[in-house]
Amino acid sequence: MKESATASAPGKVILFGEHFVVSGFPAIVTAIDKRVKIRLTNSVENRFVIVSGQVCSAWSLNGQPVGAKHSPFQALYDMVNAVCRDHGIKCVGRAEIDSEIMGAAGLGSSAAVAVALVKAFSDLHGLELTIDKIIQYAMKAETEFHGRPSGIDPTIAAVGGTIIYHGPGKYMHLATPANPKVLIVFSGKKRKTSKMVNHVQQLARDKPRLFGELTKIYSIIYREAFSAIQKYDVEKIGKLFTMNHLLMRALGLSNESVEKIIEVLAGLGVYGSKLTGAGGGGCVIAVAGENIERIAGEMSKIYPHVWLSQTGCRGVGE
Ligand code: PMV
Repeated sequence: MKESATASAPGKVILFGEHFVVSGFPAIVTAIDKRVKIRLTNSVENRFVIVSGQVCSAWSLNGQPVGAKHSPFQALYDMVNAVCRDHGIKCVGRAEIDSEIMGAAGLGSSAAVAVALVKAFSDLHGLELTIDKIIQYAMKAETEFHGRPSGIDPTIAAVGGTIIYHGPGKYMHLATPANPKVLIVFSGKKRKTSKMVNHVQQLARDKPRLFGELTKIYSIIYREAFSAIQKYDVEKIGKLFTMNHLLMRALGLSNESVEKIIEVLAGLGVYGSKLTGAGGGGCVIAVAGENIERIAGEMSKIYPHVWLSQTGCRGVGE
């Protein structure tokens, strides 16, 4: 066994189809250039320790938390513990999380952490886990964390690029001539994915005809988006963002600050913008033409968290 291993995985933005993907429709998601890095060592002999910034949690050899009973990393520990059980490994070590991805903002930070941690663990112990196996373990942590995830976040964190995602194990890389930059603006409000997913699923049950009509419109947007991305038609992608956002509004996922951001972005000349991720706050994404850098500069004067991100970035790895 090695003494240490490092791995990193990217965050993501959902370009089209969040929530619809939970109901079985395909979504389009891309890996961004913000990453989570994990450094794992076997320097600890009788515990498993997870550290991120000021937060540190530990578990004894029999799986009991050491110190505080409720750890924000419990789902991550349970995931590592499952890998240990499956491979007959003692669950010890120290994992340090170093993240560039804002949490609870729709950028896939929890999945990126889970994917990078499994990969580092696999490398440290020479397990040679396949990408699909890594996704399955990360799904375990995501399920504990979010309740009913579609699996889109761990999949993109693992495979990278830009993919069509259609449910666990069902994804396809989208061949694109180039990857557009996206402008990401944080709305100032963090939120819980599970709460937003429950809200939409409840609406789908309460108003099946309305939801059915929205899914029909989504299917048209999806098909057009698929071809716009393949042709690198950024202007069209922007217009389709705006349409997808209107569906998210209809599902009750937007709020005043999100709408304000969208209005300001439109005033600055983006091709289009939308909420990304579960909604109820989180982030807005936009695409624009050559003036995107200038727009990013203008937005940064108004909003504290603005990123101009590369898309189609690499998945889990060094
Ligand atoms: O956790 P978020 O904000 O990245 O949302 C993930 C996308 C959803 O479709 C809302 C949930 C899911 O698991 O697909």
